[in-house]
Amino acid sequence: MWETFIYKALPCVVYFCYDPLKMNAFMKLTYYGHSCFAIQWGGKKLLFDPFIRPNGLAKGVDVKGIEADYILVTHGHADHIADCKELAEQTGALVISSFEVTQWLGKQGVKKVHGMNTGGKFKLDNGTVKCVVAHHSSSMPDGSYGGNPMGYVVTSGEKNFYYSGDTALTMDMELIPRWAKLDFAILCIGDTFTMGYEDAILAAKMIRCNTIVGVHYDTFEPIKIDHQKVKEAFSDAGITLHLPPIGKTIEL
Ligand code: NI
Ligand code: MN
Repeated sequence: MWETFIYKALPCVVYFCYDPLKMNAFMKLTYYGHSCFAIQWGGKKLLFDPFIRPNGLAKGVDVKGIEADYILVTHGHADHIADCKELAEQTGALVISSFEVTQWLGKQGVKKVHGMNTGGKFKLDNGTVKCVVAHHSSSMPDGSYGGNPMGYVVTSGEKNFYYSGDTALTMDMELIPRWAKLDFAILCIGDTFTMGYEDAILAAKMIRCNTIVGVHYDTFEPIKIDHQKVKEAFSDAGITLHLPPIGKTIEL
């Protein structure tokens, strides 16, 4: 009887209690408005482009409750960095960005920083991040030089994703599938300051990814979008577009 349990039932019990496939099946994405979101897997949390308190649409977000192991900043514009110092102090996270952005943050008193530039990789506790080209500009909130803007390709060994940062559509995106087979991508879609949704659809095809999370829309008047129209355009192109409500967590 006990032999039967150990050889037959126990492996099933262990499998259902600790299913390594299921445990790694999803990354959790929490949207904090504009281009700020966190992605969590393997017990670690990456927070991207912290801009919450100045965003009127994100008033419901409990900034004091945000935790992070890493904060990744794509460029120096205020709508990507406004809450970086406070959240770096609050969370104790390592801040990863361009060399110039991290130097500037260092002068503001942020202690744990890792400066990079496009083309470079960095090993995280739960994966690897690669800095990739973004066609945009990058100056700090005080007007000083912010180096090159960038996007990030993150690989975990289980799931891979790309975050474009602020960028125009660029042929450089064609390189991304050579580095990683993407499970999902976070793309700017708001137009005016970045690519709009039509170019984001072309970007999704260039990076060979059918699951997209849209960011950098609605926050300011010039980047307001028609949700229905944009979702239909993605759907007509055979691409799933997620526009999670601010504060909501989705699994990808
Ligand atoms: Ni920008
Ligand atoms: Mn921006």
